[in-house]
Amino acid sequence: MVKVCNLVAIMLIVLLPNVSSYDRPATRKNIVMHPYSNDPVSPEQVHISLVGPDKMRISWITKNSVMPTVVYGTTSGEYEGSANGTSSSYHYLMIYRSGQINDVVIGPLKPNTIYYYKCGGQSSTQEFNFKSPPSQFPIRFAVAGDLGTTEWSKSTLDHVSKWEHDVFILPGDLSYADLWQPVWDTFGRMVQPLASKRPWMVTQGNHEVELIPVLHRQSFTAYNNRWRMPFEESGSTSNLYYSFNVFGVHFIMLGSYADFEPGSDQYQWLEKDLKSIDRKTTPWLMAVIHAPWYNTNEAHQGEKESVDMKQSMETLLYNARVDLVFAGHVHAYERFNRVYEDKFDKCGPVYINIGDGGNKEGLAKNYGDPTPAISLFREASFGHGQLVVVNASHAQWKWQRNDDDVSVEKDSVWLTSLSADSSCQI
Ligand SMILES: *[C@@H]1O[C@H](CO)[C@@H](O)[C@H](O)[C@H]1NC(C)=O
Ligand SMILES: *[C@@H]1O[C@H](CO)[C@@H](O)[C@H](O)[C@H]1NC(C)=O
Ligand SMILES: [Fe+2]
Repeated sequence: MVKVCNLVAIMLIVLLPNVSSYDRPATRKNIVMHPYSNDPVSPEQVHISLVGPDKMRISWITKNSVMPTVVYGTTSGEYEGSANGTSSSYHYLMIYRSGQINDVVIGPLKPNTIYYYKCGGQSSTQEFNFKSPPSQFPIRFAVAGDLGTTEWSKSTLDHVSKWEHDVFILPGDLSYADLWQPVWDTFGRMVQPLASKRPWMVTQGNHEVELIPVLHRQSFTAYNNRWRMPFEESGSTSNLYYSFNVFGVHFIMLGSYADFEPGSDQYQWLEKDLKSIDRKTTPWLMAVIHAPWYNTNEAHQGEKESVDMKQSMETLLYNARVDLVFAGHVHAYERFNRVYEDKFDKCGPVYINIGDGGNKEGLAKNYGDPTPAISLFREASFGHGQLVVVNASHAQWKWQRNDDDVSVEKDSVWLTSLSADSSCQI
């Protein structure tokens, strides 16, 4: 009798569907977005990014050339501020010419304040608005890499837009244009509803390189023209690596596709940037790369941009007591323990791979077995991350999965800053 019962139980376990399992969604189709307006000077692809402690860069594209002017103020319809900037455009393969790409830096701005602005000056018909980041904790960061322009990308952005955040962090691979430049325009239009309201701080991925031997010898043409980041303000000579502060949080945005060897420009800049950090005023230290240094997914194993960059820079970040390292590239979510040189180390950074924005290439579903002890959570699903830096010592990280069209919390952990750990002296 006992034996029969056991048999039934075993059969039930085998036959009943595991209720907690999740069917990985299929890829969804690419979206194509056309300009909202036929007006050749109407602003489109509006996005903003932080510049220094109290300024914002406003970037937008027009079909025809306009004066790169932004008017702004704290009351809708009243613009006490005005600033001029610069513009550029680029050709790609004779068949594509971008619109006029405009960049205007405005400020100084008050913290945690809604600003209303018009791109192209007073006469422009459309008003946008953004909120500047707070000058005290808590500070909220939304994080998603490898975004693309699919229906999944859109669902990720819809979920992010419903979460009250201050800054968006994108660890590389933006549009997946893959040389076909109009996709960059679709990407700009798709992100505008979010990226015109909150600063988007990005770094480059492999999909940004867009180099073609003989035919297009310059790399990062679209990326550098369209997504200018505050590199000069952080003492860097390249748009591919830079740093910025949001109150007490220092972000180092590294370039997985720029030279990273000891002695390289990026390496020297990183050394200098790390030395300049005062953990009393910026207790939190984050780094962002594209190709992960730690990754137990079968995708992207052994690539030079992961292995060699880790070899070159891991000790620098470890010695500086970096709290968290975000990466993308692998289309899945994985969170590690604190790690240094492949082993648990209580003074090492927590590594988080968040390349799950939802691009056209789909998910990276295969993981190595067994799960190494340093990997604490891994799942191949689309979604986004939410980091709330609560105070100088505590932050909460959550991973929100796109359960089809609903955002569901699947991983949540409290993190403490290494600056608050006296046994990890900085
Ligand atoms: C912007 O440029 C226009 C035209 O040259 C000029 O009239 C205006 O004063 C400038 N605005 C600012 C804020 O410098
Ligand atoms: C920081 O936040 C954590 C979590 O809410 C709390 O337990 C801790 O007491 C706070 N620390 C300070 C100094 O306020
Ligand atoms: Fe990538």
